[in-house]
Amino acid sequence: MSVTHSLDTATSRANPLPSPMKRLTVPKVQKMKGGEPIVMLTAYTARMAQLLDPHCDVLLVGDSLGQVIYGLPSTVPVTLEMMCAHGAAVVRGSYHAVVAIDMPFGSYEASPAQAFESASRILKETGAAAVKLEGGEAMAETVAFLTKRGIPVIGHVGLTPQAVNALGGYGARGKSDAEAKKILADAKAVAEAGCFLLVLEGVMEEIAIEATKAVACPTIGIGASAECDGQVLVTEDMLGLFERTPRFVKKYDDMAGRIEAAAQAFAGEVRKRAFPTADQTYRKA
Ligand code: KIV
Repeated sequence: MSVTHSLDTATSRANPLPSPMKRLTVPKVQKMKGGEPIVMLTAYTARMAQLLDPHCDVLLVGDSLGQVIYGLPSTVPVTLEMMCAHGAAVVRGSYHAVVAIDMPFGSYEASPAQAFESASRILKETGAAAVKLEGGEAMAETVAFLTKRGIPVIGHVGLTPQAVNALGGYGARGKSDAEAKKILADAKAVAEAGCFLLVLEGVMEEIAIEATKAVACPTIGIGASAECDGQVLVTEDMLGLFERTPRFVKKYDDMAGRIEAAAQAFAGEVRKRAFPTADQTYRKA
């Protein structure tokens, strides 16, 4: 289905044609456990949200925007301001998917009260329906605190990129029995604390399968297993915008190659004065 947009000049909203389905809700996505796999992709801008929205159940405004949009070395320097600005853009560009926003490093770990302050700001300023935070047993109290106060939370265990300095890199987790046991305990802890979805990133497949069976909420895999209740990828990775990507990424396009070819064609035409032509030039009739 191809979607076009018409601009409503009264509200400045670009309305999609054909009209979209009603927006999914957190309880509806939560009930998808064990059914049709949940589709989640990252989005950071309104236009990307418009293009992805009809195909996704959840759009995640991931803190991966630190590397993808801002060229930062990790997600550690990402701020609440960045997440709120991009989150609001994605909500404006979407009509169907549940929009969830990553809580950036440093905005929630100190205490449940700090997490509530940051999460409520994110939901107020963006209009998104949910937040995501990284961490297992240590974050269970915070997940319970937020969910009991009306903030839907997505958990994230296994490879947790905000902990890169402690983990020492982005390698897959759970190779030793002790680490596998810890990841399972983390998954159970945040699921029991009330998260409505649980991202399992960069873990041995056996752990993902066992966790998916063990927890009541749907699991979303990224470098985990096809047996998770859904899958997520960073959109720019799956579009082939980067040369180097983790092994778990499948490139569905070669956007880097296509952008380079378009830029080269534009540069060639400008230098030959072949662009603009009469078609792109304003002239008196
Ligand atoms: O920041 C992000 O994009 C994420 C996904 C990769 C799960 O957390």
